[in-house]
Amino acid sequence: MGWLDEQVALVTGGGSGIGEATCHHLAEGGHRVAVLDRDPESAGRVAKAVGHDGGQASPVVADVTDRAAVDAAFAEVRRTFGPIEILVTSAGVCRFAAFEDITVDDWQRTLDVNLTGTFHCCQAAIPDMTAAGWGRIVMISSSSAQRGAGRAPHYAAAKGGVVALAKSLALAYAPHGITVNNIPPSGIETPMQHEAQADGHLPPNDVMAKAIPLGHLGTPSDIAAAVTFLASDDAGFITGQTFGVNGGQVL
Ligand SMILES: NC(=O)c1ccc[n+]([C@@H]2O[C@H](COP(=O)([O-])OP(=O)(O)OC[C@H]3O[C@@H](n4cnc5c(N)ncnc54)[C@H](O)[C@@H]3O)[C@@H](O)[C@H]2O)c1
Repeated sequence: MGWLDEQVALVTGGGSGIGEATCHHLAEGGHRVAVLDRDPESAGRVAKAVGHDGGQASPVVADVTDRAAVDAAFAEVRRTFGPIEILVTSAGVCRFAAFEDITVDDWQRTLDVNLTGTFHCCQAAIPDMTAAGWGRIVMISSSSAQRGAGRAPHYAAAKGGVVALAKSLALAYAPHGITVNNIPPSGIETPMQHEAQADGHLPPNDVMAKAIPLGHLGTPSDIAAAVTFLASDDAGFITGQTFGVNGGQVL
């Protein structure tokens, strides 16, 4: 797969779901992985599990909405592992509400975590990548940015911003050898999805599966495999793309 020798990858939201699987995949590819999450317990658990499987990982705790905490966390990763050349932004929150019921605080928090958090982490990582003349950024967006989400318009708007940010950074940093792509998941079995189902915001798996041409939901590993490909040398001519991994939904 054209693996690079042991680069430093930082995965936000690395403590659960898609981020967790991505930490494992990148470590299996030989990268040193910083598992960033706001939840210290889950970041520590994932880093330990990666180590148990023979990979190199270190937990780092930050809320991506807090710029000072992000800068401190990235500095800690540089001290531990070296310059960050692969960034995966998977930290996200999804809240469901009818548009007229969205409070200003909910609107702001949803944009802060999903979009502004991505902005903070990209600004923190890009200087390392420009210095190296090589970099990979993979943002986890959402299919809600492609088709809209009537019961989560703030989330869809934030993820739409992520797609536009990815395309814009792809143009801005192509001359520096940095590729920037986004993956918009849909129907991936993670704690986030299970919580939405438990709260009645999403239908059960068998109903969701009917909307997926391949007939079943995806796993975090399905997304992680695509992220790891986009982070490889083999994906060097792919940038600015919305890379669908969704069981055949044409969006
Ligand atoms: N599961 C799906 O089907 C699906 C669909 C569309 C988009 N997504 C997106 O994929 C990404 C990963 O979602 P998941 O399903 O793995 O969810 P998840 O809830 O399992 O994992 C999200 C992780 O992000 C962390 N996090 C949340 N807010 C944070 C913050 N402010 N700072 C640092 N860490 C924070 C959480 O602690 C958690 O460990 C999210 O951006 C989500 O919006 C998922």
